[in-house]
Amino acid sequence: MTSGQSFYITTPIYYPSDVPHIGHGYTTVAVDTLARWHRQSGDDTWMLTGTDEHGQKMLRAAAANGVTPQEYVDKLVSEAWFPLLEKLDAANDDFIRTTQPRHEEGVKAFIQAIYDRGYIYAGEYEALYCVGCEEFKPESEIVDGTGEFEGLKVCAIHSKPLELLHEKNYFFKLSEFGDKLLELYRERPDFVQPESARNEVVAFVQQGLKDLSISRSAFDWGIPVPWDESHVIYVWVDALLNYATALGYGTEGGDFERRWPGYHVVGKDILRFHAVIWPAMLMAAGLEVPKGVFAHGWLLVGGEKMSKSKATGIAPATLVDTFGSDAYRFYFLSAIAFGQDGSFSWEDMSARYQAELANGFGNLASRTIAMTEKYFDGSVPAPAAYTEADLAIQKLVADAAANADAAIERFRTDQAIAEIWTIVDALNGYITDNAPWALAKDETQRDRLATVLYTCLDGLRALAVLLSPVMPKSTATLWQALGAEAALGALEDQNVRDAGAWGVLPVGATVSKLAPLFPRIEEA
Ligand code: ME8
Ligand code: MG
Repeated sequence: MTSGQSFYITTPIYYPSDVPHIGHGYTTVAVDTLARWHRQSGDDTWMLTGTDEHGQKMLRAAAANGVTPQEYVDKLVSEAWFPLLEKLDAANDDFIRTTQPRHEEGVKAFIQAIYDRGYIYAGEYEALYCVGCEEFKPESEIVDGTGEFEGLKVCAIHSKPLELLHEKNYFFKLSEFGDKLLELYRERPDFVQPESARNEVVAFVQQGLKDLSISRSAFDWGIPVPWDESHVIYVWVDALLNYATALGYGTEGGDFERRWPGYHVVGKDILRFHAVIWPAMLMAAGLEVPKGVFAHGWLLVGGEKMSKSKATGIAPATLVDTFGSDAYRFYFLSAIAFGQDGSFSWEDMSARYQAELANGFGNLASRTIAMTEKYFDGSVPAPAAYTEADLAIQKLVADAAANADAAIERFRTDQAIAEIWTIVDALNGYITDNAPWALAKDETQRDRLATVLYTCLDGLRALAVLLSPVMPKSTATLWQALGAEAALGALEDQNVRDAGAWGVLPVGATVSKLAPLFPRIEEA
């Protein structure tokens, strides 16, 4: 991708029926890291996140708490969902709430438009509904209940009883879009990523699509159907439209023309909504389909998908307050192959913090800066003639930077970090091999000492830039300590795609004392 191109990326809009857990935090930091990388590469970047506030799930949660649904969501959004973004150091450009007038107007305009184009009709419906999923369930996701739900049909995801609903609904002619969707998946093989997600979607659409019920009349917590106010728009149709309404679709002005289409990163639980229903809705309206849908895997706790409905949720703050937001971001984005399931454990996080962040990256930074202070009075020394070992480091930095950028293009934050980490490991090995403390004892080795330290310092300069989208806080501290802020300007203004160049940190820049970037954790 060349600089200056539009890069619009979204998280799902989460249900604020409860407080966030680390699964929500996972998607958010992944999207934030991808957005930061692109923003810092000069792309015309826009990151959107938000909350999905209508539907029966919300209505019931509010009723259980004795407040109106609006009061309920207002409280959760302000007390739990906005603070999550700050906790995780997310730099989203916008936050959409589906109860905002800008969204409601855009949704009505869209529904009216596809109604006018003949894609909506009235019909009767009877089917099993899962309030947890906010979805009429397909046969394949209906299972027999056990234990307290013996004899009932339950949702395969939530393990809670399904409800038989019989209503007059409006329907979207989803069945008409099967062939067009299959053509889309064929012509653009990376429309759905990863491969496993694509295969699942193709198989699902090949079975044939049924029309989709897109309104409900049994309750009124939603956006009214414009031509029949006795119905509200189905919460998923309402929710998917956030990606368009947030850009100003259906209202005056706005950035829809400039930014649409974009990329959607979602958990695989909601893949079909994004890769089947959403592009079909857009086709019906005559709008462009997304650039792509990336479905990541589930965080598992004790072998099961972590979820609030099963009370296995871990609050992101529990981890951030212990390890810091950078370590949180680093851990989830490096330890789990993006696109596959991954098990979370405190022990694993703690071990990686110690090995990779404290002993690996943190220690490399501390000792390089300490030696520059000790041997060169804190002034970045001029390298003399480069040896083969030095040139090998320079090549490795250039390759790692290019490979990391390519990995980000594939949405593989884990592979990007692994590439960048080859620099950390190589520099730590290089220090051991070159033993600057021994060179310092020999006056005739002064030039060699300068070259070795410059190699470490400029390598750290590259690391600070490359890791800044993943760990904005510690890299900013390092940038300052390297004297790079004064010499080169703000870290966020350094183009990530140029990070692999060599000899960027100016000779004579002044380093300053660096407290440990990743201090020892005092565990309770
Ligand atoms: O589905 N592992 O909202 P939601 C990884 N409002 N990611 C997880 C996770 C886990 N165990 N649990 C949740 C909704 N997530 C709808 C979306 S979009 C138009 C509407 C993340 O609050 C993951 O991104 O149930 C998943 O897709 C999302 O949270 C579901 O959040
Ligand atoms: Mg969910």
